[in-house]
Amino acid sequence: MTKLLFPGSFDPFTRGHRDIARRAAKICDKLYVAVMHNDAKKHFFAPEDRVMMARESLKGFDNIEVIRHDGLLVDIYKETGCDAVVRGIRSESDFRYEAEMALANRLLEPSYDAVLLPCRDDLSLISSSIVKEVGFYGGDISKMVPAEIVGFVSEELKKGRN
Ligand code: PNS
Repeated sequence: MTKLLFPGSFDPFTRGHRDIARRAAKICDKLYVAVMHNDAKKHFFAPEDRVMMARESLKGFDNIEVIRHDGLLVDIYKETGCDAVVRGIRSESDFRYEAEMALANRLLEPSYDAVLLPCRDDLSLISSSIVKEVGFYGGDISKMVPAEIVGFVSEELKKGRN
């Protein structure tokens, strides 16, 4: 049984994230989507809301399970017994970051491996940061986040601006 782990801060979950999860789920038996903390970022949404948004966005994918993990990526990697971590790549700078992250994680856990999926052209400019910026000003984010969470994300961002 092949198991993959798709970690991220998902602040919020975007259509780009869903596309990577959908494609990763096709190449494994079980995909764990792990909602985690990125110390380099200040998260707007609470961890439980980020889990809820990922679950809502991935409803209907039978082999995907959304989990929350507040510690090191290698710990949840080992705990779940995954074969590799999946990450989406939008640009050359993403690739550099992912390569460094894989290297660091492999120093901590020699069995660590990564599968890097190039993101879809039409989703390559979408990021959680852009969603937040547009949403703070009350802009239309419906093409950026899954339909299931558009209302929640828009409302929270509008509230957050005040
Ligand atoms: O969606 P993001 O913010 O790019 O996801 C980054 C994330 C959460 C996967 C990364 O910051 C992470 O692995 N955090 C957990 C702490 C950890 O293990 N850090 C060492 C990474 S080399």
